[in-house]
Amino acid sequence: MIPVHTHFKDQQSGLVDPFGRRIEYVRLSVTDRCNLRCFYCLPKGFRDFETPEHWLSFDEIERVISAFSELGVRRVRLTGGEPLVRKNLPDLISKLSSLPGIDDLSLSTNASLLREHALKLKEAGIDRINVSLDTLKADRFKSVTQGGNLLKVLAGLQAARKAGLNPVKINMVALKGINDDEFEDMVDYCMRNAFTLRFIETMPIGEAGRSGSEHYLDLHRVLERLGKSYDLIPGVMAGGGPAKYFQVKGTDFRIGFITPISQHFCETCNRVRMSVDGTLYLCLGQAHSIALRPLLRDGISDAQLKSVLTDAIRLKPARHEFDEKPGQLNRCMSQTGG
Ligand code: GTP
Ligand code: 5AD
Ligand code: SF4
Repeated sequence: MIPVHTHFKDQQSGLVDPFGRRIEYVRLSVTDRCNLRCFYCLPKGFRDFETPEHWLSFDEIERVISAFSELGVRRVRLTGGEPLVRKNLPDLISKLSSLPGIDDLSLSTNASLLREHALKLKEAGIDRINVSLDTLKADRFKSVTQGGNLLKVLAGLQAARKAGLNPVKINMVALKGINDDEFEDMVDYCMRNAFTLRFIETMPIGEAGRSGSEHYLDLHRVLERLGKSYDLIPGVMAGGGPAKYFQVKGTDFRIGFITPISQHFCETCNRVRMSVDGTLYLCLGQAHSIALRPLLRDGISDAQLKSVLTDAIRLKPARHEFDEKPGQLNRCMSQTGG
C-alpha cells in the first residue's frame, strides 16, 4: 500500500466549525506586553501581564502550530501586545517558516522597533507586515499612544520597505474627534509610499476598548467621504483578513475597510487565536477558550494534541455580540492579539 503522508491526509478534511467555516488562519500573540499604550487598547496603568513561566516557549509554540498546519492551517500571523518586544523572535519565525504547511507568515506591529528588526524578520521568513498607525502628527501620536514617538515608526516603515517586506499594510483605527481630520492625509502618505491603507472600526473590547468606543465612526461614512476626493472602484488584495478593498482608479493603491461593528464579517471567519500563555481563543469577541499549556506540559502526544484542536474548533461561537453585550468582554486586546 502507498503510505499516505499525514499532512496531506489531514488537510483533506481540515478544521471546519459547526457553522461550516474552514479555519485556516492562526493569530499567535507572542507577548501580551507592549511598548505603547494606545488608549483604546490597553487600560492606563495596566500591569496584569502574564508571568514569564507561563509564556509558551518557542518549541511549545512550534508544536502547536505544527499540529495546526497538519490540520489544514496555512496562515500564521504573529501579534502581541507588540511582538517585537519578545526576545529572539527571529528564532521562532525561522521555526515556523520551515513548517511545510505554512505558506503565509505575517506580523502585526506598531513599528516602533522595526528599524532595528526589519531585515532580520525578513531573513527569518516573515513575508509581509501590518503596521498600526492612527495619525501622522507627532504630538497626536504621543497622546493616542500615551508616550510613543512617531519618528521611530516612520523610520521603521522605511526600513521595512528597504528590507523587502511586501505588502506593508497600515492599520488606522478611525476615531471621531481624534483623527477624523487626517484620513485624506493618510491616504496621500500611503499612496506616496506604496503602502496599503486599512481603516478599522473601534470595538468595545475590555475597559480600554469601551472608552475608545466613544469615538466610534461607521466606516461607510468614511468611504462616502473619501469617494469625494478619490475615484474609488472595488478592488482585491492578497491576505486572509476581513477587509473590503477599494482601489484608486488608474493606480495600484488600495484602501481596505474593516467593519466589525457596522457590517460584521463573522459568517466568513477563518481564524482562531492563541495567547502567550497557550490559551486558544475561538473568537476575538467571545470568552470561549481552551487552555493548551497544561496539556503541553503534561506530555500530550501529537495525535492527542490534534484531536484536542479539532474538538476545540467545535466550540467556536457564531459571532461576536459587541452590540448586544458591549460590557461582556473584560480581556484586553493586547492579551488576545489584535
Ligand atoms: P490580512 O491577513 O493582511 O488580511 O490581515 P488581517 O486583516 O487578518 O489582520 P490584521 O492583524 O491587520 O487585523 C487588523 C484589525 O482587524 C485587527 O487589529 C482587528 O481590529 C480587526 N480584526 C482582525 N481580525 C478580526 C476578527 O477576527 N474579528 C474582528 N471582529 N476583528 C478583527
Ligand atoms: N478596536 C479595534 N481595533 C483595535 N485594536 C486594538 N484595540 C482595538 C479596538 N478596541 C487593533 C488595531 C490596532 C492594533 C494594535 O490592534 O488594529 O492597530
Ligand atoms: Fe470571527 Fe469572532 Fe472576529 Fe467574528 S468576532 S470575525 S466570529 S473572531
